Amino acid sequence: MSDSRHGPAGEPDILVLPGPEDVSLAAAEWIATTLGQAVAGRGRADFATTGGSTPIGIYRHLAADPLRRRVPWTDVHVWWGDDRFVPRDHQLSNVLPADTILFAAAEYSGQSGNRTQGTDVEAGIEPGVPVPAGNIHPFPCSETIGRGGTPADCARTYAEALAASPMPVVDGLPRFDLILVGVGPDGHVMSVFPGSRAFDCDALAFGIPAPTHVEPHVERVTLSPALLGVASRVLVVAYGATKAGIIGRAFGEARDPRSIPAQLTRRVGATWILDAAAAAQVPPAIPVRSH
Ligand code: 6PG
Repeated sequence: MSDSRHGPAGEPDILVLPGPEDVSLAAAEWIATTLGQAVAGRGRADFATTGGSTPIGIYRHLAADPLRRRVPWTDVHVWWGDDRFVPRDHQLSNVLPADTILFAAAEYSGQSGNRTQGTDVEAGIEPGVPVPAGNIHPFPCSETIGRGGTPADCARTYAEALAASPMPVVDGLPRFDLILVGVGPDGHVMSVFPGSRAFDCDALAFGIPAPTHVEPHVERVTLSPALLGVASRVLVVAYGATKAGIIGRAFGEARDPRSIPAQLTRRVGATWILDAAAAAQVPPAIPVRSH
């Protein structure tokens, strides 16, 4: 039985690989396949990516051949599950790694200094992936900050953009083709922290006060946790021993996403790709695949 507030019941597909580099490559391949399927099915793919350090290795693989050539990037729309309320070029921005690695924006804008990877159209060598600028949909943090607005203002504008997008609507919520998330040390996903008020409101996006228990201590904006329940596919990626405890708890018998928001992604239609260190405390009763 599907309940969009908590996601469909069941267990995700869990893939356990030896180390972080295996995880990044497998995640990038999985994303490339999923985006291709979405474009084949509905003419575009709506992909919400994540922040933190997890996407960096993934972006490197997506931006390099063979994956760069495999994905129909011009039909991919990139959104963000959450961001820090800072300008887009701030070092804490969740958009900056995508701009730098996935889209190679500095190369295109000529701001990279020596342009060692500069565009060479004839040779077919281009930096980054060719997602049209109009398909890139960050939270409007820079614009909101520039006009003296708040994270709540920023979230409202983003919610309007989501509502105006041609994504299918399920239970009043836009259905992403793919949402990628990492797992925080407290079990948060996107910027939905344990006990978040976002569980009790119907908005599509929220301004979130600066968390004091996890870094960085800056205000955030986040999508609604309910969107994780209706997304066609959700990919959870985590590696390293520091994630083992919380991931073990996420797969415990008690299901309470308000306490462990990562449990929102413990659902059919979700895939978790973990390294052996991060998966070390997944209870033996939970089926995992390993290569
Ligand atoms: C953020 C996030 C957050 C992140 C996790 C995992 O903006 O901080 O989007 O939900 O994905 O905290 O972070 P790491 O990838 O750094 O482990």
